[in-house]
Amino acid sequence: MAQLFEQRHTTMFRVGIVLVLLAAIGAVIMGYFWSRSGSAWNVGKPALQPVPFRHDLHAGSLRIDCRYCHSNVERTAGAGMPSAHTCMSCHSQVWVGASALEPVRSAVALQQPIEWTSVHRLPPFAFFHHAAHVTKGVACETCHGRVDQMARTVKVHTLSMGWCLDCHRDPAPHLRPQNAVLAMGYEPHDRDLPPEVRAHYRSEARRLTSCSTCHR
Ligand code: HEC
Ligand code: HEC
Ligand code: HEC
Ligand code: HEC
Ligand code: HEC
Repeated sequence: MAQLFEQRHTTMFRVGIVLVLLAAIGAVIMGYFWSRSGSAWNVGKPALQPVPFRHDLHAGSLRIDCRYCHSNVERTAGAGMPSAHTCMSCHSQVWVGASALEPVRSAVALQQPIEWTSVHRLPPFAFFHHAAHVTKGVACETCHGRVDQMARTVKVHTLSMGWCLDCHRDPAPHLRPQNAVLAMGYEPHDRDLPPEVRAHYRSEARRLTSCSTCHR
């Protein structure tokens, strides 16, 4: 029986199929790495804000305590955002007429909150609690980075489930003494952590990694 295709064409066809399969596998692998990389999670990307607020100036140079503006951070799930009145406690005296502060002045006049754009926002099915961390030796810097050096606030970690679990499996090496949770540029030393804390978290790891801790 005569061959339907020449041998040469059959070979080309097979090579073609192999190439298409390799490309598909490559795309899946690249997609996987992209989704695991920071850029898929908006790491390092500032959001558009109504006022060009600068942490490097306020928390850095002026050394204003984080809790002056994020006053719930040691008590509740949310850290809390500063009201326009908090800004005006200083800006009724400094930079008074500045046009950059116009949204702050009108928020006070209209008795409305300033609409800050979230930089960190978990999906609603994931539960997070600031006080649970901050009162147990997990520092702002560990999750939010050097906020005191940021001219524009950005995420430094993905906040993905994998990132949470990396710490929850073995938190001890990430913990600080309680008086250093607000410090920036702190280098944790192993000796800072009492051995009983280490032992405590070895037995807590199972609870901290169970689904219902963060999905409730
Ligand atoms: C003078 C007030 C003030 C102080 C002090 C301050 N912040 Fe903020 N913070 C703000 C404002 C205003 C925003 C919203 C604008 C922005 O994202 O830059 C904000 C946003 C943030 C965000 C992002 C919030 C989001 O929606 O994702 C983090 C994280 C944060 N601050 C951490 C800190 C830490 C840590 C400190 C202490 C080192 C600190 N802040 C000190 C006023 C302040
Ligand atoms: C264990 C990691 C972790 C620590 C420690 C931490 N944060 Fe956060 N922060 C987050 C996460 C996650 C979110 C997003 C929360 C959400 O969407 O429910 C967030 C959100 C915020 C926000 C936005 C407003 C809000 O409450 O959602 C501010 C402001 C903030 N953090 C400030 C701080 C400050 C100040 C500290 C230290 C006193 C701190 N955080 C410590 C992980 C952390
Ligand atoms: C404890 C006092 C204090 C508080 C509270 C405060 N600021 Fe300021 N802010 C200052 C000082 C001081 C400057 C610097 C003025 C200068 O350098 O001329 C400044 C500068 C600024 C600038 C100009 C930044 C630039 O580009 O140079 C903006 C915008 C600003 N603040 C916004 C805010 C907002 C928004 C809030 C409330 C979330 C706030 N500030 C709360 C003291 C404060
Ligand atoms: C750097 C370490 C670290 C990171 C990152 C971290 N956690 Fe935690 N988390 C802890 C520690 C330590 C505790 C235990 C506090 C205690 O002893 O009660 C905790 C406790 C919690 C609790 C309270 C558990 C309970 O019922 O007592 C929740 C909820 C939680 N974490 C959610 C999250 C989520 C969601 C993320 C990621 C967005 C996250 N955590 C990231 C260290 C971390
Ligand atoms: C320490 C906190 C924490 C624990 C424990 C945890 N998760 Fe999550 N999970 C998160 C956070 C934060 C997100 C949202 C970010 C993301 O999608 O990675 C998430 C997202 C998810 C998603 C959506 C994933 C997606 O791609 O949209 C699923 C499904 C999920 N978790 C299932 C589970 C299951 C099942 C367990 C128990 C084996 C578990 N989680 C334990 C924090 C946690």
